[in-house]
Amino acid sequence: MNNQRIFSGVQPSGSLHIGNYLGAIKNWVELQNKFDAIFCVVDLHAITVPQNPEELKKKTIEAAKIYLAAGIDPEKSTIFIQSHISEHAELAWILNTITKTGDLLKMTQFKDKALIDFKEVDSAEEIGREYSKSQNLYLEEFKNWKSIFSKSYAGLFNYPILMAADILLYDTDVVPVGEDQLQHIELARTLARRFNKKFGETFVVPEPYIQKETMRIMGLDDPAKKMSKSATSEYNYISLTDDEETVRRKIKKAVTDSGSEIIYSDEKPALKNLINIYTSFSGKTFQEIEKTYQGKGYADFKNGLADILVKFLKPFQEKMNAISDEQVLGILQKGAEKVYLIAQEKMKDAKKKVGFIV
Ligand code: AMP
Ligand code: TRP
Repeated sequence: MNNQRIFSGVQPSGSLHIGNYLGAIKNWVELQNKFDAIFCVVDLHAITVPQNPEELKKKTIEAAKIYLAAGIDPEKSTIFIQSHISEHAELAWILNTITKTGDLLKMTQFKDKALIDFKEVDSAEEIGREYSKSQNLYLEEFKNWKSIFSKSYAGLFNYPILMAADILLYDTDVVPVGEDQLQHIELARTLARRFNKKFGETFVVPEPYIQKETMRIMGLDDPAKKMSKSATSEYNYISLTDDEETVRRKIKKAVTDSGSEIIYSDEKPALKNLINIYTSFSGKTFQEIEKTYQGKGYADFKNGLADILVKFLKPFQEKMNAISDEQVLGILQKGAEKVYLIAQEKMKDAKKKVGFIV
Protein backbone atom coordinates (compact mmCIF):
# COMPACT_ATOMS: atom_id res chain seq x y z
CA MET A 1 0.00 0.00 0.00
CA ASN A 2 1.38 3.39 -0.90
CA ASN A 3 -0.09 6.62 0.35
CA GLN A 4 -1.32 7.78 -3.03
CA ARG A 5 -5.03 8.42 -3.36
CA ILE A 6 -7.34 7.19 -6.11
CA PHE A 7 -10.83 8.51 -6.80
CA SER A 8 -13.40 7.20 -9.24
CA GLY A 9 -17.14 7.03 -9.77
CA VAL A 10 -19.96 5.66 -11.85
CA GLN A 11 -23.25 7.39 -12.61
CA PRO A 12 -26.35 5.71 -11.19
CA SER A 13 -28.16 6.55 -14.40
CA GLY A 14 -29.33 3.16 -15.57
CA SER A 15 -28.64 -0.51 -15.08
CA LEU A 16 -24.97 -1.08 -14.42
CA HIS A 17 -23.88 -3.76 -16.86
CA ILE A 18 -21.05 -6.23 -17.34
CA GLY A 19 -19.16 -3.55 -19.35
CA ASN A 20 -19.14 -1.23 -16.31
CA TYR A 21 -18.01 -4.16 -14.18
CA LEU A 22 -15.18 -5.30 -16.46
CA GLY A 23 -14.15 -1.80 -17.57
CA ALA A 24 -14.27 -0.05 -14.21
CA ILE A 25 -15.48 -1.65 -10.98
CA LYS A 26 -13.46 -4.87 -11.24
CA ASN A 27 -10.26 -2.81 -11.51
CA TRP A 28 -11.18 -0.75 -8.46
CA VAL A 29 -11.34 -3.92 -6.38
CA GLU A 30 -7.69 -4.63 -7.14
CA LEU A 31 -6.62 -1.01 -6.77
CA GLN A 32 -8.12 -0.65 -3.28
CA ASN A 33 -5.32 -2.86 -1.97
CA LYS A 34 -2.63 -0.56 -3.30
CA PHE A 35 -4.10 2.89 -2.82
CA ASP A 36 -6.05 5.02 -0.43
CA ALA A 37 -9.28 4.60 -2.39
CA ILE A 38 -12.43 6.70 -2.62
CA PHE A 39 -15.33 5.54 -4.79
CA CYS A 40 -18.33 7.73 -5.39
CA VAL A 41 -21.84 7.20 -6.75
CA VAL A 42 -22.07 10.34 -8.87
CA ASP A 43 -25.74 11.28 -8.70
CA LEU A 44 -25.08 14.97 -9.46
CA HIS A 45 -23.65 13.83 -12.78
CA ALA A 46 -26.60 11.51 -13.41
CA ILE A 47 -29.07 14.41 -13.50
CA THR A 48 -27.29 16.02 -16.45
CA VAL A 49 -29.63 13.81 -18.47
CA PRO A 50 -33.31 13.46 -17.49
CA GLN A 51 -33.93 11.06 -14.61
CA ASN A 52 -37.06 9.78 -12.95
CA PRO A 53 -36.59 10.83 -9.27
CA GLU A 54 -37.88 7.57 -7.74
CA GLU A 55 -35.84 5.53 -10.17
CA LEU A 56 -32.71 7.61 -9.43
CA LYS A 57 -33.03 6.84 -5.71
CA LYS A 58 -33.31 3.13 -6.44
CA LYS A 59 -30.40 3.16 -8.88
CA THR A 60 -28.18 5.07 -6.45
CA ILE A 61 -28.65 2.43 -3.76
CA GLU A 62 -28.28 -0.33 -6.32
CA ALA A 63 -24.99 1.12 -7.61
CA ALA A 64 -23.58 1.16 -4.07
CA LYS A 65 -24.68 -2.45 -3.55
CA ILE A 66 -22.94 -3.35 -6.81
CA TYR A 67 -19.71 -1.76 -5.54
CA LEU A 68 -19.96 -3.85 -2.39
CA ALA A 69 -20.95 -7.11 -4.12
CA ALA A 70 -18.05 -6.64 -6.55
CA GLY A 71 -15.69 -6.64 -3.61
CA ILE A 72 -15.18 -3.01 -2.68
CA ASP A 73 -14.49 -3.39 1.01
CA PRO A 74 -15.73 -0.48 3.15
CA GLU A 75 -12.96 -1.28 5.64
CA LYS A 76 -10.37 -0.54 2.95
CA SER A 77 -12.11 1.96 0.68
CA THR A 78 -14.44 4.85 1.27
CA ILE A 79 -17.70 4.83 -0.66
CA PHE A 80 -20.20 7.66 -0.62
CA ILE A 81 -22.90 9.50 -2.58
CA GLN A 82 -21.72 12.64 -4.39
CA SER A 83 -24.73 14.79 -3.44
CA HIS A 84 -24.08 14.13 0.27
CA ILE A 85 -21.04 16.38 0.05
CA SER A 86 -22.15 19.81 -1.12
CA GLU A 87 -18.52 20.87 -1.56
CA HIS A 88 -18.54 19.10 -4.95
CA ALA A 89 -21.06 21.57 -6.35
CA GLU A 90 -19.39 24.46 -4.52
CA LEU A 91 -15.94 23.79 -5.90
CA ALA A 92 -17.44 23.15 -9.34
CA TRP A 93 -18.79 26.71 -9.26
CA ILE A 94 -15.39 28.19 -8.50
CA LEU A 95 -13.80 26.07 -11.22
CA ASN A 96 -16.50 27.28 -13.63
CA THR A 97 -15.01 30.74 -13.32
CA ILE A 98 -11.59 29.60 -14.52
CA THR A 99 -12.84 27.27 -17.25
CA LYS A 100 -12.94 28.67 -20.76
CA THR A 101 -15.98 27.88 -22.83
CA GLY A 102 -13.51 26.69 -25.44
CA ASP A 103 -12.15 24.10 -22.98
CA LEU A 104 -15.62 22.59 -22.81
CA LEU A 105 -16.41 22.85 -26.50
CA LYS A 106 -13.65 20.34 -27.17
CA MET A 107 -15.29 17.62 -25.11
CA THR A 108 -16.46 14.80 -27.34
CA GLN A 109 -18.79 13.34 -24.72
CA PHE A 110 -20.72 16.61 -24.63
CA LYS A 111 -20.80 16.72 -28.38
CA ASP A 112 -22.08 13.16 -28.53
CA LYS A 113 -24.77 13.77 -25.95
CA ALA A 114 -25.81 17.21 -27.22
CA LEU A 115 -26.04 15.91 -30.76
CA ILE A 116 -28.07 12.95 -29.58
CA ASP A 117 -30.61 15.38 -28.09
CA PHE A 118 -30.45 17.65 -31.10
CA LYS A 119 -31.03 14.90 -33.58
CA GLU A 120 -33.46 13.08 -31.29
CA VAL A 121 -31.76 9.74 -31.72
CA ASP A 122 -30.60 7.20 -29.15
CA SER A 123 -26.86 7.13 -29.61
CA ALA A 124 -23.93 8.85 -31.22
CA GLU A 125 -23.56 5.77 -33.37
CA GLU A 126 -26.97 6.38 -34.82
CA ILE A 127 -25.95 9.87 -35.88
CA GLY A 128 -23.26 8.20 -37.87
CA ARG A 129 -20.20 6.27 -36.81
CA GLU A 130 -18.13 8.90 -38.63
CA TYR A 131 -18.70 11.26 -35.72
CA SER A 132 -16.47 9.36 -33.39
CA LYS A 133 -13.81 9.19 -36.04
CA SER A 134 -13.78 12.66 -37.45
CA GLN A 135 -13.53 15.86 -35.46
CA ASN A 136 -14.20 17.74 -38.67
CA LEU A 137 -17.65 16.34 -39.01
CA TYR A 138 -18.32 17.36 -35.44
CA LEU A 139 -17.13 20.84 -36.22
CA GLU A 140 -19.30 20.95 -39.32
CA GLU A 141 -22.28 20.02 -37.22
CA PHE A 142 -21.31 22.56 -34.59
CA LYS A 143 -21.56 25.37 -37.09
CA ASN A 144 -25.14 24.72 -36.17
CA TRP A 145 -24.24 25.41 -32.56
CA LYS A 146 -26.96 27.95 -31.93
CA SER A 147 -29.67 25.44 -32.62
CA ILE A 148 -27.79 22.66 -30.83
CA PHE A 149 -27.24 24.80 -27.74
CA SER A 150 -30.84 25.99 -27.70
CA LYS A 151 -31.82 22.36 -27.06
CA SER A 152 -29.10 21.17 -24.69
CA TYR A 153 -28.82 21.95 -20.99
CA ALA A 154 -25.98 23.87 -19.33
CA GLY A 155 -25.48 21.04 -16.82
CA LEU A 156 -24.44 18.70 -19.58
CA PHE A 157 -22.02 21.28 -20.95
CA ASN A 158 -20.50 21.92 -17.52
CA TYR A 159 -20.38 18.24 -16.56
CA PRO A 160 -16.58 17.94 -16.92
CA ILE A 161 -16.08 20.83 -14.45
CA LEU A 162 -18.05 18.94 -11.81
CA MET A 163 -15.92 15.89 -12.53
CA ALA A 164 -12.77 18.01 -12.06
CA ALA A 165 -14.18 19.20 -8.72
CA ASP A 166 -14.78 15.58 -7.63
CA ILE A 167 -11.18 14.75 -8.32
CA LEU A 168 -9.45 17.92 -7.05
CA LEU A 169 -11.43 18.12 -3.81
CA TYR A 170 -9.60 15.08 -2.44
CA ASP A 171 -6.01 15.72 -3.57
CA THR A 172 -6.45 12.74 -5.87
CA ASP A 173 -3.21 11.40 -7.32
CA VAL A 174 -4.62 8.81 -9.69
CA VAL A 175 -7.99 8.47 -11.44
CA PRO A 176 -8.84 5.01 -12.81
CA VAL A 177 -11.31 5.34 -15.68
CA GLY A 178 -12.14 4.01 -19.11
CA GLU A 179 -10.46 5.53 -22.12
CA ASP A 180 -13.57 7.62 -22.93
CA GLN A 181 -12.93 9.71 -19.81
CA LEU A 182 -9.37 10.76 -20.66
CA GLN A 183 -10.39 14.17 -22.00
CA HIS A 184 -12.21 14.92 -18.77
CA ILE A 185 -9.13 14.04 -16.69
CA GLU A 186 -7.09 16.29 -18.94
CA LEU A 187 -9.44 19.15 -18.09
CA ALA A 188 -9.09 18.40 -14.36
CA ARG A 189 -5.31 18.65 -14.80
CA THR A 190 -5.62 21.93 -16.69
CA LEU A 191 -7.91 23.42 -14.04
CA ALA A 192 -5.65 22.32 -11.17
CA ARG A 193 -2.66 23.95 -12.84
CA ARG A 194 -4.59 27.08 -13.80
CA PHE A 195 -5.96 27.55 -10.28
CA ASN A 196 -2.56 26.94 -8.68
CA LYS A 197 -0.94 29.45 -11.00
CA LYS A 198 -3.58 32.09 -10.43
CA PHE A 199 -4.14 31.71 -6.70
CA GLY A 200 -1.18 29.73 -5.36
CA GLU A 201 -0.48 26.02 -4.84
CA THR A 202 -3.80 24.41 -3.83
CA PHE A 203 -4.63 21.33 -5.90
CA VAL A 204 -2.77 18.15 -6.75
CA VAL A 205 -2.51 17.62 -10.52
CA PRO A 206 -4.07 14.16 -11.00
CA GLU A 207 -2.85 11.40 -13.30
CA PRO A 208 -5.22 9.22 -15.32
CA TYR A 209 -4.95 5.47 -14.90
CA ILE A 210 -6.20 3.70 -17.98
CA GLN A 211 -5.82 -0.02 -17.72
CA LYS A 212 -4.48 -1.02 -21.10
CA GLU A 213 -6.03 -4.44 -20.94
CA THR A 214 -9.36 -2.90 -20.04
CA MET A 215 -11.71 -4.20 -22.64
CA ARG A 216 -14.39 -2.22 -24.27
CA ILE A 217 -17.39 -4.48 -24.14
CA MET A 218 -19.57 -3.91 -27.15
CA GLY A 219 -23.35 -4.11 -27.47
CA LEU A 220 -24.83 -7.59 -27.90
CA ASP A 221 -27.17 -6.21 -30.54
CA ASP A 222 -24.47 -4.35 -32.46
CA PRO A 223 -20.73 -5.02 -32.00
CA ALA A 224 -19.89 -1.58 -33.41
CA LYS A 225 -21.55 0.17 -30.44
CA LYS A 226 -20.30 0.23 -26.87
CA MET A 227 -22.45 -1.70 -24.42
CA SER A 228 -24.34 1.16 -22.81
CA LYS A 229 -26.61 1.86 -19.84
CA SER A 230 -28.64 4.22 -21.95
CA ALA A 231 -29.26 1.83 -24.84
CA THR A 232 -32.91 1.69 -25.82
CA SER A 233 -32.97 -2.05 -26.40
CA GLU A 234 -32.41 -4.31 -23.41
CA TYR A 235 -30.79 -6.70 -25.89
CA ASN A 236 -27.78 -4.35 -25.98
CA TYR A 237 -26.51 -5.26 -22.52
CA ILE A 238 -26.34 -7.84 -19.74
CA SER A 239 -27.22 -5.97 -16.57
CA LEU A 240 -25.54 -7.05 -13.34
CA THR A 241 -29.05 -7.59 -11.99
CA ASP A 242 -30.37 -9.74 -14.87
CA ASP A 243 -31.78 -13.10 -13.77
CA GLU A 244 -30.85 -16.41 -15.37
CA GLU A 245 -33.79 -16.50 -17.77
CA THR A 246 -33.00 -12.98 -19.00
CA VAL A 247 -29.30 -13.72 -19.44
CA ARG A 248 -30.05 -16.85 -21.48
CA ARG A 249 -32.65 -15.05 -23.60
CA LYS A 250 -30.31 -12.11 -24.30
CA ILE A 251 -27.32 -14.29 -25.16
CA LYS A 252 -29.50 -16.40 -27.46
CA LYS A 253 -30.56 -13.22 -29.26
CA ALA A 254 -27.06 -11.71 -29.42
CA VAL A 255 -26.03 -11.02 -33.02
CA THR A 256 -23.33 -13.23 -34.51
CA ASP A 257 -21.32 -13.12 -37.70
CA SER A 258 -21.64 -15.21 -40.82
CA GLY A 259 -20.06 -18.66 -40.80
CA SER A 260 -20.44 -21.14 -37.98
CA GLU A 261 -16.91 -21.65 -36.65
CA ILE A 262 -15.98 -20.39 -33.20
CA ILE A 263 -12.84 -18.39 -33.96
CA TYR A 264 -11.45 -15.22 -32.41
CA SER A 265 -10.89 -12.78 -35.23
CA ASP A 266 -11.33 -9.12 -36.15
CA GLU A 267 -13.35 -10.30 -39.08
CA LYS A 268 -15.94 -11.63 -36.69
CA PRO A 269 -16.52 -8.64 -34.40
CA ALA A 270 -19.73 -9.93 -32.82
CA LEU A 271 -18.21 -13.28 -31.94
CA LYS A 272 -14.99 -11.59 -30.83
CA ASN A 273 -16.96 -9.52 -28.34
CA LEU A 274 -18.75 -12.61 -27.01
CA ILE A 275 -15.43 -14.45 -26.68
CA ASN A 276 -13.98 -11.44 -24.83
CA ILE A 277 -16.85 -11.65 -22.35
CA TYR A 278 -16.36 -15.42 -22.06
CA THR A 279 -12.63 -14.92 -21.42
CA SER A 280 -13.18 -12.23 -18.80
CA PHE A 281 -15.61 -14.26 -16.74
CA SER A 282 -14.04 -17.70 -17.13
CA GLY A 283 -10.33 -16.89 -17.04
CA LYS A 284 -9.90 -19.07 -20.13
CA THR A 285 -7.84 -17.81 -23.06
CA PHE A 286 -9.46 -17.40 -26.43
CA GLN A 287 -7.34 -20.29 -27.75
CA GLU A 288 -8.79 -22.54 -25.06
CA ILE A 289 -12.29 -21.39 -25.94
CA GLU A 290 -11.69 -21.99 -29.65
CA LYS A 291 -10.53 -25.49 -28.79
CA THR A 292 -13.49 -26.25 -26.55
CA TYR A 293 -15.92 -25.32 -29.32
CA GLN A 294 -14.04 -26.81 -32.24
CA GLY A 295 -16.50 -28.56 -34.51
CA LYS A 296 -19.43 -27.09 -32.57
CA GLY A 297 -21.64 -24.19 -33.56
CA TYR A 298 -22.91 -20.90 -32.17
CA ALA A 299 -25.72 -22.55 -30.21
CA ASP A 300 -23.28 -24.60 -28.12
CA PHE A 301 -20.96 -21.64 -27.66
CA LYS A 302 -23.82 -19.37 -26.59
CA ASN A 303 -25.06 -21.99 -24.12
CA GLY A 304 -21.57 -22.17 -22.68
CA LEU A 305 -21.31 -18.39 -22.45
CA ALA A 306 -24.70 -18.09 -20.75
CA ASP A 307 -23.59 -20.75 -18.22
CA ILE A 308 -20.42 -18.78 -17.46
CA LEU A 309 -22.37 -15.55 -16.99
CA VAL A 310 -25.00 -17.14 -14.78
CA LYS A 311 -22.24 -18.75 -12.71
CA PHE A 312 -20.78 -15.28 -12.09
CA LEU A 313 -24.04 -13.37 -11.69
CA LYS A 314 -25.86 -15.74 -9.30
CA PRO A 315 -23.47 -15.38 -6.35
CA PHE A 316 -22.96 -11.70 -7.25
CA GLN A 317 -26.69 -11.05 -6.96
CA GLU A 318 -26.94 -13.15 -3.81
CA LYS A 319 -24.32 -10.87 -2.26
CA MET A 320 -26.26 -7.81 -3.44
CA ASN A 321 -29.52 -9.15 -2.03
CA ALA A 322 -27.90 -9.97 1.29
CA ILE A 323 -27.17 -6.26 1.80
CA SER A 324 -30.20 -4.36 3.07
CA ASP A 325 -30.94 -0.77 2.04
CA GLU A 326 -30.35 0.27 5.66
CA GLN A 327 -26.94 -1.37 5.70
CA VAL A 328 -25.81 0.25 2.48
CA LEU A 329 -27.13 3.65 3.56
CA GLY A 330 -25.19 3.24 6.82
CA ILE A 331 -21.98 2.53 4.89
CA LEU A 332 -22.60 5.50 2.57
CA GLN A 333 -23.28 7.75 5.56
CA LYS A 334 -20.03 6.68 7.23
CA GLY A 335 -18.21 7.23 3.95
CA ALA A 336 -19.65 10.72 3.62
CA GLU A 337 -18.62 11.57 7.18
CA LYS A 338 -15.07 10.49 6.39
CA VAL A 339 -14.65 12.36 3.11
CA TYR A 340 -16.47 15.42 4.43
CA LEU A 341 -13.49 16.28 6.59
CA ILE A 342 -11.15 16.21 3.58
CA ALA A 343 -13.60 18.10 1.34
CA GLN A 344 -14.26 20.78 3.93
CA GLU A 345 -10.55 21.46 4.53
CA LYS A 346 -9.82 21.72 0.81
CA MET A 347 -12.84 23.93 0.18
CA LYS A 348 -11.86 26.28 2.97
CA ASP A 349 -8.41 26.62 1.46
CA ALA A 350 -9.79 27.22 -2.05
CA LYS A 351 -12.27 29.82 -0.76
CA LYS A 352 -9.56 31.69 1.13
CA LYS A 353 -7.34 31.67 -1.93
CA VAL A 354 -9.99 33.27 -4.17
CA GLY A 355 -10.68 35.94 -1.55
CA PHE A 356 -13.84 34.78 0.18
CA ILE A 357 -14.23 35.58 3.86
CA VAL A 358 -14.27 32.23 5.69
P1 AMP B 1 -20.61 5.12 -17.62
O1 AMP B 1 -21.45 3.92 -17.88
O2 AMP B 1 -20.41 5.94 -18.84
O3 AMP B 1 -21.02 5.91 -16.39
O4 AMP B 1 -19.16 4.57 -17.30
C1 AMP B 1 -18.73 4.17 -16.03
C2 AMP B 1 -17.40 3.46 -16.17
O5 AMP B 1 -17.58 2.20 -16.87
C3 AMP B 1 -16.33 4.25 -16.97
O6 AMP B 1 -15.07 4.09 -16.37
C4 AMP B 1 -16.40 3.63 -18.34
O7 AMP B 1 -15.20 3.74 -19.05
C5 AMP B 1 -16.75 2.16 -18.03
N1 AMP B 1 -17.56 1.58 -19.13
C6 AMP B 1 -18.78 2.01 -19.54
N2 AMP B 1 -19.25 1.26 -20.57
C7 AMP B 1 -18.29 0.33 -20.83
C8 AMP B 1 -18.17 -0.73 -21.78
N3 AMP B 1 -19.13 -1.00 -22.67
N4 AMP B 1 -17.03 -1.47 -21.76
C9 AMP B 1 -16.06 -1.22 -20.86
N5 AMP B 1 -16.12 -0.24 -19.95
C10 AMP B 1 -17.21 0.54 -19.91
N1 TRP C 1 -17.79 10.87 -15.87
C1 TRP C 1 -17.50 9.57 -15.35
C2 TRP C 1 -18.14 8.49 -16.26
O1 TRP C 1 -19.13 8.74 -16.89
C3 TRP C 1 -18.01 9.40 -13.95
C4 TRP C 1 -17.30 10.31 -12.99
C5 TRP C 1 -17.81 11.42 -12.40
C6 TRP C 1 -15.97 10.16 -12.53
N2 TRP C 1 -16.88 11.99 -11.58
C7 TRP C 1 -15.74 11.24 -11.64
C8 TRP C 1 -14.96 9.24 -12.77
C9 TRP C 1 -14.49 11.43 -11.01
C10 TRP C 1 -13.72 9.41 -12.14
C11 TRP C 1 -13.50 10.51 -11.27
O2 TRP C 1 -17.64 7.39 -16.29
